Amino acid sequence: PQSGHAIIAPLISLRVILMSQKDKTSGTDTHTLWGGRFSEPTDAFVQRFTASVSFDQRMYNQDINGSIAHARMLAKAGILTDEEQQAIENGLEAIRTDIRNGEFTWSVELEDVHMNIESALTQRIGPVGKKLHTGRSRNDQVATDIRLYVRDEIDALASDLIRLQYALVDLAEKEADTIMPGFTHLQTAQPITLGHHLLAWNEMLDRDYSRLMDCRRRLNVSPLGAAALAGTSFPIDRHYTAELLGFDAPTRNSLDSVSDRDFAIELAACGSLLMTHLSRFSEELVLWTSAQFDFIDLPDRFCTGSSIMPQKKNPDVPELVRGKTGRVNGHLVSLLTLMKSQPLAYNKDNQEDKEPLFDLLDTLRDCVKAYADMVPAIESKRDNMYQSAKKGYATATDLADYLVKKGMAFRDAHEVVGKSVAYGIEHKKDLSELSLDELKAFSDKIEDDVFAVLTLEDSVQARDHIGGTAPNQVRAAAANYRILLQQR
Ligand code: ARG
Repeated sequence: PQSGHAIIAPLISLRVILMSQKDKTSGTDTHTLWGGRFSEPTDAFVQRFTASVSFDQRMYNQDINGSIAHARMLAKAGILTDEEQQAIENGLEAIRTDIRNGEFTWSVELEDVHMNIESALTQRIGPVGKKLHTGRSRNDQVATDIRLYVRDEIDALASDLIRLQYALVDLAEKEADTIMPGFTHLQTAQPITLGHHLLAWNEMLDRDYSRLMDCRRRLNVSPLGAAALAGTSFPIDRHYTAELLGFDAPTRNSLDSVSDRDFAIELAACGSLLMTHLSRFSEELVLWTSAQFDFIDLPDRFCTGSSIMPQKKNPDVPELVRGKTGRVNGHLVSLLTLMKSQPLAYNKDNQEDKEPLFDLLDTLRDCVKAYADMVPAIESKRDNMYQSAKKGYATATDLADYLVKKGMAFRDAHEVVGKSVAYGIEHKKDLSELSLDELKAFSDKIEDDVFAVLTLEDSVQARDHIGGTAPNQVRAAAANYRILLQQR
């Protein structure tokens, strides 16, 4: 699949040319593909207004693959001769090469990617090119193209997502013993390990991966053969085209086939959640790189400076990912709104699915790539995290648990520890810095062995069960993940 950036620049310039063209009273009369019943050419503005070629040309590979499969099926069914099929296929491959080399002229008069390619085919191989559209409509053609396009993009996205998950697992293993404050309400709660925190992000991304795979499985059916809406009177073989295009099966209802865009909406919903996760991740990275937290360092190549304040090093990549979540959420709402009032079957409204969908996919791929590249380069400032964990009475729960283990009811223990914390705050001492006598003043159940539970190390070690923060558990979870990821 092509990268978004390579494609966007030519699109913008094409847009500019189209928009700056002076309105003529009528458009160029090149509508030879459907102009039979028309007595005047399309209005020039309407021609530009209804055209989609400036953005749907990026589906050219999928369009050509769909046409090749269709032509092979037509030959198998005896509707085309083998020679005709071969001529069509060779012509389409030559067009693919031209497009790839930037030697293809896209024409707005030919409206969309489908008619541009079909018309170029006839120009190249002669009248036999006009037979390609037998038993097919642009309605099932475009539905096929988008499914193929989205499928390719999901596969590319998934591979970067796996790369990001590996990066998190590797880093988690490296930071399995690193102690940091764990937060609730962004207030110090209990000590945790950085490895454990990193694996929490990995859990979110793992659900995103499985949602994407679900979406892929549901979209991987072939609409080809649904034709305009009702199917076709030709003896087509839908199973054969489905198989040629790597679809699991043909779709089951022709009306639904040409009008369904659920898969795009579903992808956008998966994407919104994925971006929500990356955005939370980003928010934490932004906080952690601040002078106030100072937990991590991001390498210079992922940051930028300020044009006025010489000391600044800004975490632009996470900030931008957090910001891009908005446009992805917007695309989800666009697609839902686009669909909500459409009667069966195909409506031109559906042409509006592409720009949100493409931008959504470009954005997801860029953001996941940025994170997969950046995460391995995160450097933890272990001492700062440790000192910070010491500040907020993070082991208070451990002291309460200690008292419960000595026979006190938890609510009473909570009260005792609350008083000890208040004393510590007043005397500017952590719980572990209080003397035995000082502690005993709050409960005579406290003995010398209390100091073994008041350190940060003991606190994290003690949470040694599945899903807990103990370094052992982090290492085990990372090892399990590595096995899981290797199977993807
Ligand atoms: N460019 C159109 C789209 O994106 C292709 C399908 C057009 N079909 C039609 N009946 N006008 O949806």
